Amino acid sequence: MINIIPLQQQLESRFGGDGVAYFAPGRINLIGEHTDYNGGFVFPGAVDCGISLVMRPNGGTEVNLYAVDLDRSCRFDIHDEEGPSDIHFRYIYGVVREMLAAGVAVRGFDAVYGGDVPLGAGMSSSAALECCFAFALNDTYGGNLDRMTLARIGQATEHKYVGVKCGIMDQFASMHGRACSLMRLDCNSGEFDYFPWNPADYRLVLVNSCVKHELVGSPYNERRESCERVAQMAGVKNLRYCDWERLETLKPKLSETDYRRARYVLGEVDRVMAVSEALQRGDYEEVGRQMYLTHEGLSRDYEVSCEELDFLVDEARRLGVSGARLMGGGFGGCTINLVHNDLVDRFLVEVQESYKARFGVDCKPIKVTIGEGAMRL
Ligand code: GLA
Repeated sequence: MINIIPLQQQLESRFGGDGVAYFAPGRINLIGEHTDYNGGFVFPGAVDCGISLVMRPNGGTEVNLYAVDLDRSCRFDIHDEEGPSDIHFRYIYGVVREMLAAGVAVRGFDAVYGGDVPLGAGMSSSAALECCFAFALNDTYGGNLDRMTLARIGQATEHKYVGVKCGIMDQFASMHGRACSLMRLDCNSGEFDYFPWNPADYRLVLVNSCVKHELVGSPYNERRESCERVAQMAGVKNLRYCDWERLETLKPKLSETDYRRARYVLGEVDRVMAVSEALQRGDYEEVGRQMYLTHEGLSRDYEVSCEELDFLVDEARRLGVSGARLMGGGFGGCTINLVHNDLVDRFLVEVQESYKARFGVDCKPIKVTIGEGAMRL
């Protein structure tokens, strides 16, 4: 989490007056990738980095924003039907509009914000941004919306104002995170459980490929469409309700691509359950084995990997890391690695060297600390 004093100083110098501070985190996901919009399970946790903001109502209907990291500002009226064209500010405009639509009496405000969650790394910087504003507006204007509703407001913002047909995982995790716990969410029912995450002998390490991950304009929505086509042909609401037998019966009628997409999703739903059981036994080697299987599926069947991510996963395997896979939407961003304590230092040194030798650019390791969900500071 960043120091908020500079944010307060900016708010004071740009707009005058003091603000209330809020924070919402990014997330990791142990397993359960591209399952959320298929009604499956996900296994995320919030991290200790994210977006922080300071905000104060200004008595009018205008919203004044300043993003310190981008050094860009924006102004719009809460009643404006179009909103800003700068995609970055559309995330906030969308949250404001969705909060109003949900009946929260949002009025004009001034806000300054910044963060420490790497952008485009697949750690859900955009969900952190949406959730931070949704949480802050709910608190400031007495909205009384619960955390799941606020998460859905973030998701609706992505759908309607940004054009990414994402699932609920990222916003859910940013809202519900708890220190030292991962969460298993059933995306069909919305039910979830906390799983303590405190392995004595292992660490989670992310390796950012620094290939910019950007879901806006990526084939993310096409993946979702494939899944929806198969579900429709199977006569079910979503792929969670499609079993292996049904998929095999349908196979002759499906395009080869759609079949492989669905095969990945069904496999991933099974893998989340296998990981839940392995965690209950404390069997981290099995957790890691499932992570490698997920990566194979994401790379070959779901085709959301890239050369750099495949290389990082192969390197992890070669160096004896217990589990590794690309994390998040794909097309760049991070790998998540389950690494035995004895191996962490060597892995980090060697993976950075070999990545540089192979691609001529640096990858960036990030040690993960599981933190709390959105909060007022
Ligand atoms: C992105 C989306 C999520 C989820 C993941 C893949 O992070 O925002 O909803 O679909 O990709 O698991």
